[in-house]
Amino acid sequence: MADIAVLGHGVVGSGVLEVLLTHTDSITRRAKEEIRVRHILDLREFPELPYAGRFTKDFNTVLNDPEVTIVVECMGGLEPAYTFVRQCLENGKSVVTSNKELVAAKGAELLALAQRNNLNFLFEASVGGGIPIIRPISQCLAANEVSEIAGILNGTTNFILTKMIREHMGFEEALKLAQELGYAERDPSADVEGADACRKICILASLAFGTHVYPEDVHTEGITRITLEDVAYASAWGGVIKLIGQVSMLENGRIAIMVAPMFISRDSQLANVDDVFNGILVRGDATGDVVFYGKGAGKLPTASAVVADVIDCVKHMKARKYLFWEDAKPDYIEPFESITGDFFLRVQGEGSSDEAFAMAAWVLPGAARIVRREEAPGEAGLSVENITEAQLKGCIDKLEAGGVRVLDRIRISDF
Ligand code: HSE
Repeated sequence: MADIAVLGHGVVGSGVLEVLLTHTDSITRRAKEEIRVRHILDLREFPELPYAGRFTKDFNTVLNDPEVTIVVECMGGLEPAYTFVRQCLENGKSVVTSNKELVAAKGAELLALAQRNNLNFLFEASVGGGIPIIRPISQCLAANEVSEIAGILNGTTNFILTKMIREHMGFEEALKLAQELGYAERDPSADVEGADACRKICILASLAFGTHVYPEDVHTEGITRITLEDVAYASAWGGVIKLIGQVSMLENGRIAIMVAPMFISRDSQLANVDDVFNGILVRGDATGDVVFYGKGAGKLPTASAVVADVIDCVKHMKARKYLFWEDAKPDYIEPFESITGDFFLRVQGEGSSDEAFAMAAWVLPGAARIVRREEAPGEAGLSVENITEAQLKGCIDKLEAGGVRVLDRIRISDF
C-alpha cells in the first residue's frame, strides 16, 4: 500500500482523485501496489463527495503523517506551494507536481533537495498537460544531443490565434469567446502576454540542457498586439502566426531562448496545431525532429500525467530517478539583441505602398515584398533574412526617421 496526500482540490487535484478512483485496478496493477489517498488539503469543504472525510485544512496533518510517502501538489502558484513542497522533501516525502510556476522558479533547488534526501521530485504535468514531454526529453531522448526545441505551449493563446486565422475574429472578441468557453482565465494576462509559455519553455530548456533557465531571464512577447492585418500578411507569405516558445543551443555554448509570436510556414509540423492543442518539436542529432501533440491543459489530461508520475514514484521508492539541473553560469543566455533571425515587417509611409516598400528595401537590402489583399494606403509588408535584433532595431529607427512607420515586426520561424 502506498499512501499519498493531494494538496489542492481544484481542477487538477479533483481530476487526480477522479483518475485514481475510476482506474483503481489498472493503476494498482501498474504500480504493483494499491495507492491510497489519505489526505486532501483544501481550504474549501466538499461535503457531497464520497471522500469528504479525507479533507483537511491543516498542512501539518499531511506533513506529520509518517504513512504518507508521496505528496501530490496541485495548488498552483508559487506560495504556499513552494514552502509546502520544500517541507515535504525535507521530511522524507517524494513530491509530484503539476505546478509550472513552481518548477520554473525553483526546479534546480527542489531537484537538489530531493537528491540530497534520496527522494523523487517529478513534474510531468507541468508542461503540455497530458502530452508526455518531460520524461521523453529526460529519458527517451537521452542518447541525443538536443539542439533545439520549439513549441506551441499555451492553449489559450493558440485558441485565440486559431479564431483570428480561421474566422477572422479580432483579438478581443476571440479572447472573450475563450473566456466564455472556459479556455481562458478571468485574468488572462499570463497567457496572452506570454508568461505562461515562458515558464514552460524554461522548464524544457532546463531539462534538455541540464542547466536551470529562469523565466525572468528570457525575452517574452505575447499576442496582444497581433492584428488581423498581421494574420493576413502571414497567409500571403504562406503560413500562420503562432505563439512559439523556442530554445536553441548555439555554437558558442550559450542558448538563445525566447517566447514570441512567429510566422510559421504552412509546411511546418507546428502549423496545424490548432485550437487549444499544444505541439512541441524537439530536434535531436540522432532522431532528427520528434513532435509531440495533444491537450496541453484541462482536468483529466493533466491529472493523467500527475497520476503517471505517482505510479512512477511508487515504483521507484528505493531507486531515485536522477534528474538534476545545474545553476547557469553568467552569460549562459545569449543577449536577445544578438540573436539572429528572419523577420516580417509591416510599414506605412505618407506616399504609396510602393514608395514605402522602396524606402524599406533601401534601409534593409534584400527585403522581399509581401502583398496582402486590401492593403491600406501607404502600407507595405516585407520579410528580411538573417539579421540580429540590434541591427533590425537600427534599421527601424532609420525608417522611422525617414517618415516610414513600422506598424509591426514579427519573427519568422525556421521550424
Ligand atoms: N492557460 C494555460 C494554457 C493552462 O492554456 O495552456 C495550462 O498551462
